Amino acid sequence: MKRILTYGTFDLLHFGHIEILRRAKALGDYLVVAVSTDEFNAIKHKKAYHDYETRKKMLEAVRYVDLVIPEKTWEQKHNDVKEYHIDAVVMGSDWEGNENFECLRDVCDVIYLPRTEGISTTKIKKDLGLQNPDNSKNQIPETSDEHKSSKTK
Ligand code: CTP
Repeated sequence: MKRILTYGTFDLLHFGHIEILRRAKALGDYLVVAVSTDEFNAIKHKKAYHDYETRKKMLEAVRYVDLVIPEKTWEQKHNDVKEYHIDAVVMGSDWEGNENFECLRDVCDVIYLPRTEGISTTKIKKDLGLQNPDNSKNQIPETSDEHKSSKTK
């Protein structure tokens, strides 16, 4: 059985996410998705609209996904590959050549797939006015919290 692993935040699950999950799964038999926790996103200066548990549940509902695990640190990847007996780590081409994944080549294959054009979480937030133009880190404005919690319940 060939086991694939991919990483990401997967906020506001969209067609580009579904496409990378579909293509990643097609490269093997079992797909593990490591989803950035809210705490890890804070370290990356990112803030997801949906919290970790919600993003995890949505990914678990995707037919291509066999297991969702938390991504808590940059350093956990070697251990993930070992623990889940991973044959290949698959990422979108925006990560091509990134040392966080290149360093895994001694333990598994590292494959970059072309991104699906024209869609991203950042673009969705921007198009819906959820992105503060003064904030380069793409954080949702504080004033949207009430709206946010009522939408996620
Ligand atoms: N991805 C993709 N095609 C897209 C968007 C994302 O293939 N149009 C891939 C990324 O390359 C990554 C995975 O989906 O391997 C998760 O990406 P993530 O950063 O969660 O999604 P983005 O939409 O890129 O989010 P953001 O705009 O916040 O960077």
